[in-house]
Amino acid sequence: MTLATAPGKAILLGEHAVVYGRPAIAVPVNEVCARAEVISLPGAAPGTIVVDAPDVGLAGELSGLDPGHPIPRILLDTLHALGPGLTPALTIRVTSSIPMASGMGSGAAVSVAIARALSQHLGLPLAPEQVSALAFAVERIHHGTPSGVDNTVVTYGLPVYFRRGEAPVPFEIAGRMHLVIGDTGIASSTAAAVGMVRERWRLDPQAYERYFDALGDLSDRALGLLESGRIAELGPLLDSAQDVLKQMGVSSPALDVLVSAARAAGAWGAKLSGAGMGGTMIALAAEPEVERVRQALLAAGAVLTIHTQVGK
Ligand code: MEV
Repeated sequence: MTLATAPGKAILLGEHAVVYGRPAIAVPVNEVCARAEVISLPGAAPGTIVVDAPDVGLAGELSGLDPGHPIPRILLDTLHALGPGLTPALTIRVTSSIPMASGMGSGAAVSVAIARALSQHLGLPLAPEQVSALAFAVERIHHGTPSGVDNTVVTYGLPVYFRRGEAPVPFEIAGRMHLVIGDTGIASSTAAAVGMVRERWRLDPQAYERYFDALGDLSDRALGLLESGRIAELGPLLDSAQDVLKQMGVSSPALDVLVSAARAAGAWGAKLSGAGMGGTMIALAAEPEVERVRQALLAAGAVLTIHTQVGK
Protein backbone atom coordinates (compact mmCIF):
# COMPACT_ATOMS: atom_id res chain seq x y z
CA MET A 1 0.00 0.00 0.00
CA THR A 2 1.24 3.51 -0.76
CA LEU A 3 -0.23 6.43 1.17
CA ALA A 4 0.20 10.11 0.40
CA THR A 5 -1.46 13.07 2.07
CA ALA A 6 -1.70 16.81 1.44
CA PRO A 7 -2.84 19.46 3.95
CA GLY A 8 -5.55 22.07 3.68
CA LYS A 9 -4.56 25.70 3.29
CA ALA A 10 -5.49 29.18 4.42
CA ILE A 11 -4.66 32.36 2.56
CA LEU A 12 -3.24 34.76 5.12
CA LEU A 13 -3.17 37.74 2.77
CA GLY A 14 -3.42 38.54 -0.92
CA GLU A 15 -6.39 36.52 -2.21
CA HIS A 16 -7.82 37.83 -5.47
CA ALA A 17 -4.95 40.32 -5.84
CA VAL A 18 -2.71 37.29 -6.48
CA VAL A 19 -4.69 36.50 -9.64
CA TYR A 20 -3.51 39.93 -10.91
CA GLY A 21 0.18 39.46 -10.21
CA ARG A 22 0.36 40.80 -6.65
CA PRO A 23 1.96 38.66 -3.92
CA ALA A 24 -0.02 36.48 -1.53
CA ILE A 25 0.94 34.58 1.61
CA ALA A 26 -0.63 31.20 2.22
CA VAL A 27 -0.07 28.68 5.01
CA PRO A 28 -0.75 24.94 5.26
CA VAL A 29 -3.48 23.77 7.63
CA ASN A 30 -2.16 20.46 8.88
CA GLU A 31 -5.14 19.68 11.13
CA VAL A 32 -7.06 18.57 8.03
CA CYS A 33 -5.82 16.67 4.98
CA ALA A 34 -6.62 14.78 1.81
CA ARG A 35 -5.42 11.13 1.69
CA ALA A 36 -4.84 8.88 -1.28
CA GLU A 37 -4.07 5.18 -0.74
CA VAL A 38 -2.97 2.98 -3.60
CA ILE A 39 -3.43 -0.76 -3.13
CA SER A 40 -2.34 -3.48 -5.56
CA LEU A 41 -5.14 -5.55 -7.07
CA PRO A 42 -3.60 -9.00 -7.61
CA GLY A 43 -5.46 -11.09 -10.13
CA ALA A 44 -6.95 -8.14 -12.05
CA ALA A 45 -5.73 -7.39 -15.58
CA PRO A 46 -2.73 -5.01 -15.77
CA GLY A 47 -3.87 -1.48 -16.53
CA THR A 48 -6.99 -1.84 -14.36
CA ILE A 49 -7.38 1.17 -12.08
CA VAL A 50 -10.31 1.19 -9.67
CA VAL A 51 -11.29 4.49 -8.05
CA ASP A 52 -13.01 4.64 -4.68
CA ALA A 53 -13.79 8.19 -3.50
CA PRO A 54 -16.70 7.84 -1.03
CA ASP A 55 -16.72 11.52 0.04
CA VAL A 56 -17.77 12.58 -3.46
CA GLY A 57 -19.73 9.43 -4.32
CA LEU A 58 -17.32 8.34 -7.05
CA ALA A 59 -16.53 4.65 -7.55
CA GLY A 60 -15.66 2.42 -10.48
CA GLU A 61 -13.03 1.66 -13.06
CA LEU A 62 -11.13 4.72 -14.25
CA SER A 63 -11.82 3.82 -17.90
CA GLY A 64 -15.58 4.15 -17.26
CA LEU A 65 -15.52 7.44 -15.31
CA ASP A 66 -16.03 10.96 -16.65
CA PRO A 67 -12.51 12.17 -17.59
CA GLY A 68 -13.62 15.75 -16.85
CA HIS A 69 -14.18 14.98 -13.15
CA PRO A 70 -11.19 16.20 -11.11
CA ILE A 71 -10.27 12.77 -9.70
CA PRO A 72 -10.15 10.82 -12.99
CA ARG A 73 -8.50 13.91 -14.55
CA ILE A 74 -5.58 14.02 -12.11
CA LEU A 75 -5.12 10.23 -12.42
CA LEU A 76 -5.03 10.41 -16.23
CA ASP A 77 -2.73 13.45 -16.23
CA THR A 78 -0.37 11.80 -13.72
CA LEU A 79 -0.21 8.59 -15.76
CA HIS A 80 0.51 10.69 -18.85
CA ALA A 81 3.29 12.58 -17.04
CA LEU A 82 4.86 9.29 -15.90
CA GLY A 83 5.13 8.16 -19.53
CA PRO A 84 4.14 5.03 -21.40
CA GLY A 85 4.21 1.66 -19.70
CA LEU A 86 1.70 -0.82 -18.44
CA THR A 87 0.40 0.01 -14.96
CA PRO A 88 -0.10 -2.93 -12.58
CA ALA A 89 -3.72 -3.35 -11.50
CA LEU A 90 -4.52 -1.13 -8.54
CA THR A 91 -7.23 0.50 -6.46
CA ILE A 92 -6.94 4.13 -5.38
CA ARG A 93 -8.98 5.22 -2.38
CA VAL A 94 -9.39 8.94 -1.84
CA THR A 95 -10.73 10.57 1.32
CA SER A 96 -10.46 14.06 2.76
CA SER A 97 -11.17 15.83 6.03
CA ILE A 98 -10.84 19.27 4.39
CA PRO A 99 -14.22 21.00 4.17
CA MET A 100 -15.22 21.29 0.50
CA ALA A 101 -16.04 24.59 -1.24
CA SER A 102 -14.82 26.45 1.82
CA GLY A 103 -11.68 28.18 0.55
CA MET A 104 -9.40 25.63 2.22
CA GLY A 105 -7.91 24.12 -0.91
CA SER A 106 -9.65 20.73 -0.76
CA GLY A 107 -9.59 20.24 -4.54
CA ALA A 108 -5.90 21.06 -4.84
CA ALA A 109 -5.04 18.82 -1.86
CA VAL A 110 -6.93 15.85 -3.36
CA SER A 111 -5.04 16.30 -6.63
CA VAL A 112 -1.67 16.54 -4.88
CA ALA A 113 -2.32 13.48 -2.71
CA ILE A 114 -3.38 11.41 -5.75
CA ALA A 115 -0.45 12.47 -7.97
CA ARG A 116 1.99 11.67 -5.17
CA ALA A 117 0.48 8.33 -4.14
CA LEU A 118 0.21 7.06 -7.71
CA SER A 119 3.69 8.14 -8.80
CA GLN A 120 5.28 6.74 -5.62
CA HIS A 121 3.40 3.45 -5.95
CA LEU A 122 4.68 3.06 -9.50
CA GLY A 123 8.25 3.74 -8.32
CA LEU A 124 8.48 7.03 -10.25
CA PRO A 125 8.04 9.72 -7.58
CA LEU A 126 7.46 13.17 -9.04
CA ALA A 127 9.30 16.33 -7.96
CA PRO A 128 7.21 18.89 -6.02
CA GLU A 129 7.18 21.25 -9.04
CA GLN A 130 5.71 18.47 -11.19
CA VAL A 131 3.07 17.56 -8.59
CA SER A 132 2.12 21.21 -8.21
CA ALA A 133 1.90 21.69 -11.99
CA LEU A 134 -0.36 18.64 -12.36
CA ALA A 135 -2.67 19.93 -9.63
CA PHE A 136 -2.66 23.40 -11.23
CA ALA A 137 -3.85 21.96 -14.55
CA VAL A 138 -6.87 20.45 -12.78
CA GLU A 139 -7.50 23.71 -10.89
CA ARG A 140 -7.64 25.51 -14.23
CA ILE A 141 -10.41 23.27 -15.49
CA HIS A 142 -12.54 23.90 -12.41
CA HIS A 143 -11.65 27.38 -11.18
CA GLY A 144 -11.32 29.38 -14.38
CA THR A 145 -8.20 31.51 -13.94
CA PRO A 146 -6.53 30.39 -10.71
CA SER A 147 -3.26 32.00 -9.65
CA GLY A 148 -1.61 28.72 -8.61
CA VAL A 149 -1.29 29.66 -4.93
CA ASP A 150 -3.54 26.83 -3.67
CA ASN A 151 -1.72 23.95 -5.40
CA THR A 152 1.63 25.50 -4.43
CA VAL A 153 1.02 25.75 -0.68
CA VAL A 154 -0.55 22.29 -0.37
CA THR A 155 2.31 20.74 -2.36
CA TYR A 156 5.10 22.31 -0.28
CA GLY A 157 3.25 22.07 3.04
CA LEU A 158 5.06 25.21 4.22
CA PRO A 159 4.15 28.89 4.48
CA VAL A 160 4.70 30.33 1.03
CA TYR A 161 5.11 33.80 -0.42
CA PHE A 162 3.64 33.47 -3.86
CA ARG A 163 3.62 35.70 -6.91
CA ARG A 164 2.15 34.42 -10.12
CA GLY A 165 4.76 33.56 -12.77
CA GLU A 166 7.64 33.53 -10.25
CA ALA A 167 9.16 30.62 -8.34
CA PRO A 168 7.25 30.25 -5.05
CA VAL A 169 9.20 31.20 -1.92
CA PRO A 170 8.54 28.78 0.97
CA PHE A 171 9.63 30.42 4.23
CA GLU A 172 9.80 29.78 7.97
CA ILE A 173 7.84 31.77 10.52
CA ALA A 174 10.05 32.89 13.41
CA GLY A 175 7.74 31.92 16.23
CA ARG A 176 4.36 30.26 16.39
CA MET A 177 1.23 31.71 14.86
CA HIS A 178 -2.22 30.63 16.06
CA LEU A 179 -5.09 30.92 13.62
CA VAL A 180 -8.70 30.09 14.30
CA ILE A 181 -10.55 29.24 11.11
CA GLY A 182 -14.32 29.72 11.10
CA ASP A 183 -16.45 28.13 8.40
CA THR A 184 -19.69 29.94 7.47
CA GLY A 185 -21.01 26.64 6.05
CA ILE A 186 -21.99 28.57 2.92
CA ALA A 187 -20.48 26.99 -0.19
CA SER A 188 -18.10 29.34 -1.92
CA SER A 189 -17.34 28.94 -5.62
CA THR A 190 -13.82 30.15 -6.41
CA ALA A 191 -14.71 30.38 -10.11
CA ALA A 192 -17.76 32.56 -9.37
CA ALA A 193 -15.90 34.88 -6.97
CA VAL A 194 -12.89 35.24 -9.28
CA GLY A 195 -15.27 35.80 -12.22
CA MET A 196 -17.17 38.50 -10.33
CA VAL A 197 -13.96 40.34 -9.41
CA ARG A 198 -12.83 40.13 -13.05
CA GLU A 199 -16.09 41.67 -14.22
CA ARG A 200 -15.85 44.52 -11.69
CA TRP A 201 -12.19 45.08 -12.55
CA ARG A 202 -13.16 45.34 -16.24
CA LEU A 203 -15.80 47.95 -15.38
CA ASP A 204 -13.59 49.98 -13.03
CA PRO A 205 -9.94 49.01 -13.57
CA GLN A 206 -8.53 52.00 -11.69
CA ALA A 207 -10.35 51.22 -8.45
CA TYR A 208 -9.58 47.51 -8.62
CA GLU A 209 -5.90 48.03 -9.45
CA ARG A 210 -5.73 50.21 -6.33
CA TYR A 211 -7.37 47.47 -4.25
CA PHE A 212 -4.93 44.88 -5.62
CA ASP A 213 -1.95 47.16 -4.91
CA ALA A 214 -3.15 47.67 -1.33
CA LEU A 215 -3.55 43.91 -0.80
CA GLY A 216 -0.17 43.11 -2.35
CA ASP A 217 1.48 45.72 -0.16
CA LEU A 218 -0.05 44.06 2.94
CA SER A 219 1.46 40.70 1.85
CA ASP A 220 4.89 42.30 1.54
CA ARG A 221 4.64 43.89 4.98
CA ALA A 222 3.41 40.64 6.50
CA LEU A 223 6.37 38.66 5.15
CA GLY A 224 8.80 40.85 7.09
CA LEU A 225 6.77 40.49 10.29
CA LEU A 226 6.48 36.71 9.98
CA GLU A 227 10.18 36.25 9.29
CA SER A 228 11.05 38.32 12.34
CA GLY A 229 8.47 36.71 14.61
CA ARG A 230 6.37 39.87 15.16
CA ILE A 231 3.13 37.90 14.94
CA ALA A 232 0.80 40.22 16.90
CA GLU A 233 1.62 43.08 14.53
CA LEU A 234 -0.03 41.12 11.72
CA GLY A 235 -3.46 41.69 13.27
CA PRO A 236 -4.04 45.21 11.89
CA LEU A 237 -2.83 44.00 8.47
CA LEU A 238 -5.51 41.31 8.42
CA ASP A 239 -8.12 43.90 9.43
CA SER A 240 -7.01 46.26 6.65
CA ALA A 241 -7.19 43.42 4.11
CA GLN A 242 -10.73 42.63 5.23
CA ASP A 243 -11.72 46.28 4.66
CA VAL A 244 -10.36 46.16 1.12
CA LEU A 245 -11.93 42.76 0.35
CA LYS A 246 -15.25 44.09 1.61
CA GLN A 247 -15.02 47.13 -0.66
CA MET A 248 -14.28 44.75 -3.55
CA GLY A 249 -17.54 42.94 -2.82
CA VAL A 250 -16.18 39.51 -1.94
CA SER A 251 -17.13 39.43 1.74
CA SER A 252 -20.64 38.40 2.79
CA PRO A 253 -22.93 39.07 5.76
CA ALA A 254 -22.04 35.70 7.32
CA LEU A 255 -18.31 36.36 6.93
CA ASP A 256 -18.69 39.87 8.38
CA VAL A 257 -20.52 38.49 11.42
CA LEU A 258 -17.75 35.95 12.11
CA VAL A 259 -15.01 38.53 11.59
CA SER A 260 -16.67 40.93 14.07
CA ALA A 261 -17.25 38.15 16.60
CA ALA A 262 -13.60 37.11 16.48
CA ARG A 263 -12.38 40.67 16.96
CA ALA A 264 -14.79 41.23 19.86
CA ALA A 265 -13.50 38.04 21.50
CA GLY A 266 -9.96 39.38 21.52
CA ALA A 267 -8.44 38.30 18.20
CA TRP A 268 -5.56 40.50 17.02
CA GLY A 269 -7.15 40.64 13.57
CA ALA A 270 -9.57 38.75 11.34
CA LYS A 271 -10.54 38.51 7.68
CA LEU A 272 -12.12 36.25 5.12
CA SER A 273 -9.71 33.69 3.65
CA GLY A 274 -9.82 32.32 0.11
CA ALA A 275 -12.29 33.33 -2.54
CA GLY A 276 -14.88 34.74 -0.09
CA MET A 277 -18.65 35.19 -0.68
CA GLY A 278 -19.03 32.33 1.81
CA GLY A 279 -16.48 29.73 2.84
CA THR A 280 -14.07 30.47 5.66
CA MET A 281 -12.53 33.31 7.62
CA ILE A 282 -9.40 33.37 9.78
CA ALA A 283 -8.72 35.03 13.10
CA LEU A 284 -5.22 35.61 14.43
CA ALA A 285 -5.03 35.30 18.19
CA ALA A 286 -2.65 34.89 21.10
CA GLU A 287 -2.70 31.28 22.32
CA PRO A 288 -4.59 32.05 25.58
CA GLU A 289 -7.39 33.73 23.56
CA VAL A 290 -7.83 30.90 21.07
CA GLU A 291 -10.58 29.07 22.94
CA ARG A 292 -12.54 32.27 23.56
CA VAL A 293 -12.34 33.18 19.87
CA ARG A 294 -13.38 29.65 18.87
CA GLN A 295 -16.42 29.76 21.17
CA ALA A 296 -17.35 33.24 19.89
CA LEU A 297 -17.23 31.99 16.29
CA LEU A 298 -19.46 29.03 17.11
CA ALA A 299 -21.90 31.30 18.97
CA ALA A 300 -21.95 33.63 15.93
CA GLY A 301 -22.95 30.79 13.60
CA ALA A 302 -19.76 29.09 12.43
CA VAL A 303 -20.57 25.49 11.47
CA LEU A 304 -16.97 24.42 12.12
CA THR A 305 -13.84 25.89 13.64
CA ILE A 306 -10.26 24.72 13.26
CA HIS A 307 -7.41 25.89 15.45
CA THR A 308 -4.21 25.68 13.47
CA GLN A 309 -0.67 26.47 14.56
CA VAL A 310 1.92 27.45 12.01
CA GLY A 311 5.61 27.90 12.65
CA LYS A 312 7.99 26.71 15.30
C1 MEV B 1 -8.41 31.09 -3.68
O1 MEV B 1 -7.91 30.31 -2.61
C2 MEV B 1 -7.58 32.33 -3.82
C3 MEV B 1 -8.00 33.23 -4.98
O2 MEV B 1 -7.05 34.30 -5.00
C4 MEV B 1 -8.01 32.52 -6.31
C5 MEV B 1 -6.62 32.13 -6.78
O3 MEV B 1 -5.62 32.67 -6.34
O4 MEV B 1 -6.57 31.24 -7.66
C6 MEV B 1 -9.37 33.85 -4.75
